[in-house]
Amino acid sequence: MKLSAPIRTSLLTLTTAALVTSGLLVMPAATAAPTPEQPAAAAAPDIPVADVQAHLGELQSIAEANGGNRAHGRPGYKASIDYLKGKLDAAGFTTSVKEFTSGGATGYNLVADWPGGDENQVLMAGAHLDSVASGPGINDNGSGSAAVLETALAVSREQLAPAKHLRFAWWGAEERGLAGSRTYVNSLSQTDRSKISGYLNFDMIGSPNPGYFVYDDDPAIEKVFKDYFAGLGVPTEIETEGDGRSDHASFLDAGIPVGGLFTGAGNTMSGEQAQKWGGTAGEPFDRCYHSACDTTENIDETALDRNSDAIAHAIWELSS
Ligand code: TRP
Ligand code: CA
Ligand code: ZN
Repeated sequence: MKLSAPIRTSLLTLTTAALVTSGLLVMPAATAAPTPEQPAAAAAPDIPVADVQAHLGELQSIAEANGGNRAHGRPGYKASIDYLKGKLDAAGFTTSVKEFTSGGATGYNLVADWPGGDENQVLMAGAHLDSVASGPGINDNGSGSAAVLETALAVSREQLAPAKHLRFAWWGAEERGLAGSRTYVNSLSQTDRSKISGYLNFDMIGSPNPGYFVYDDDPAIEKVFKDYFAGLGVPTEIETEGDGRSDHASFLDAGIPVGGLFTGAGNTMSGEQAQKWGGTAGEPFDRCYHSACDTTENIDETALDRNSDAIAHAIWELSS
């Protein structure tokens, strides 16, 4: 309602009682229930996809400077670790690089803890950072690595103070049978394992002919992702392209609740899937899967954007 200047001035001189009597002010009914003092959890921020793409550009450059790949035991892998660690340290994370041996070569897991939260309830999110030797591994798995990194940086920008403790991880030697994540889970005591309330895995989330697949392992985690995509009007399917083929299997085998997202690897998109997702039927989700052409050209930006935002949403929601 807009009031003219003289009326506004005269209202200032009236008492609340006079306003109520005059009908200008409606007081809430005495019987109205008080508003509960329970604030809703803050909504997750939008993750800028350009920032995720910038990390992919850095990972591509790292591969190019190191013989074309970022594989376990090769210099491009350690350079990838150093790049992520630098960003996380600058953002206030407590980082540690954990060495292990696989196939006679040294591997590295990078773990980044966000200070605060209940250490007896740890929410983890992770991605494998190694590529295969045949290429730079930008969709597999620069995509998951960069999106988890940018989500961690968003936690820092927002100075999130969640109820749970947040821990982000980047695994080495996934392409050698989940070696890094298995080493990590094996290194935890039974008590430490029981403190992990969930592990969220992101492996290949920017496939060029993308499907929208949600892991169906833990119903509560699955629902958070499914609801998010339903809100965007994007249909999802259950992830079925090879159970136990990524690092969530290491956690699942230890009895830890897991979830995650996936846009498809070497499998072929069906006609029905092409219709619902607007892709190309009869083509693989990722025709450069484990190939030299898995470069920054091998990314669907819309899929990368939606999945990055879904990661942030899940972390905000599941840690509150
Ligand atoms: N990292 C897997 C690999 O290189 C890719 C993959 C296949 C995957 N199937 C999956 C990842 C299912 C997550 C879920 O083989
Ligand atoms: Ca976004
Ligand atoms: Zn792979």
